[in-house]
Amino acid sequence: MRYLGIGAAKQISKIGLGTWQFGSREWGYGDRYADQVARAIVRRALELGVTLFDTAEIYGFGRSERILGQALGEDRERVFLATKILPVLPVAPVVEQRAVASADRLGARSLDLYQVHQPNPLIRDGTIMRGMRALQRVGLVGEVGVSNYSLGRWRAAEDALGSPVLSNQVPYSLVARSPERDLLPYAVQRGRVVLAYSPLAQGLLSGRYDPDNRPANRVRAGNPLFLPENLQGAAELIATLREVAEARSATPAQIALAWVIRHPAVAAIPGASSVEQLEHNAAAADIDLTDGQYQALAAAAARFQPITGPAAIPRLARARFGR
Ligand SMILES: NC(=O)c1ccc[n+]([C@@H]2O[C@H](COP(=O)([O-])OP(=O)(O)OC[C@H]3O[C@@H](n4cnc5c(N)ncnc54)[C@H](OP(=O)(O)O)[C@@H]3O)[C@@H](O)[C@H]2O)c1
Repeated sequence: MRYLGIGAAKQISKIGLGTWQFGSREWGYGDRYADQVARAIVRRALELGVTLFDTAEIYGFGRSERILGQALGEDRERVFLATKILPVLPVAPVVEQRAVASADRLGARSLDLYQVHQPNPLIRDGTIMRGMRALQRVGLVGEVGVSNYSLGRWRAAEDALGSPVLSNQVPYSLVARSPERDLLPYAVQRGRVVLAYSPLAQGLLSGRYDPDNRPANRVRAGNPLFLPENLQGAAELIATLREVAEARSATPAQIALAWVIRHPAVAAIPGASSVEQLEHNAAAADIDLTDGQYQALAAAAARFQPITGPAAIPRLARARFGR
């Protein structure tokens, strides 16, 4: 395992574990996964040196936090535990009460990273950061983070907090590269972190799916990347991933992760549907791509222009309901 070089109080592994999948109906992994597999994934992650664990109060409506907390047990104090608040009513007393509830579900004395899940479009961050400041003062929260923030809003959040907002959790992968424009340069300059979510594009970059074999669950039925046209269009990128994977005796998913975390300010938080996937993902931290491999992947990714946005909506409905 490798770790971020930012001198935080606890080490943050370059490959973490995302736990939206834990107990969330929309992923559809079922009871055995929630009751047994999720725990085994966490225990194996600890053995492999993973220290970054990401959850949110909204995942499974608290179930993910509970499953993660129970699986970590006493080890929760030695990992870098990250959760998120959904800022529906982000006034200080509510923020404080929600942090206590999350810590309680996690069984943790404190939250190493408390993130604002998404920007509230109506309320500026001064309100929520008052609560965050109070939580830091009493030691319930270590670092404050944000998620799905633009650079402008990230900086405004730092002004409102009056101290660094350590991280911004955003989609970053071979098929979601907008953080390269401004978030990554900012993170490097200021010693901040970009937490890459959906680093495998929700499984697309594993190469396991194609137009005749599309994943069936609510999350991916709503993700335009899994439209048959887009799966078809991704074939060249997947072929490049396979080529590099073969050269490195790795899997396409591992190469996709190695590509994301090559940037010094990035840690990735892939989810996993099995212990085996978690093992592969953790091992990807040790794959150091050559410049040539990195560039070949970036070039293939740039040629993939998926149908997204409004154009994807009628297609998603057709793909879902067969009309
Ligand atoms: N802040 C936010 O708004 C936000 C949004 C989304 C996610 N997140 C966080 O980021 C985490 C990860 O994102 P994500 O779950 O959306 O996408 P992801 O990590 O890109 O994809 C996870 C899925 O990819 C497949 N997979 C994982 N490892 C694999 C491997 N080694 N080989 C082949 N397939 C593999 C699994 O699905 P199958 O086996 O079923 O194919 C798994 O459920 C979440 O758990 C959550 O913590 C945050």
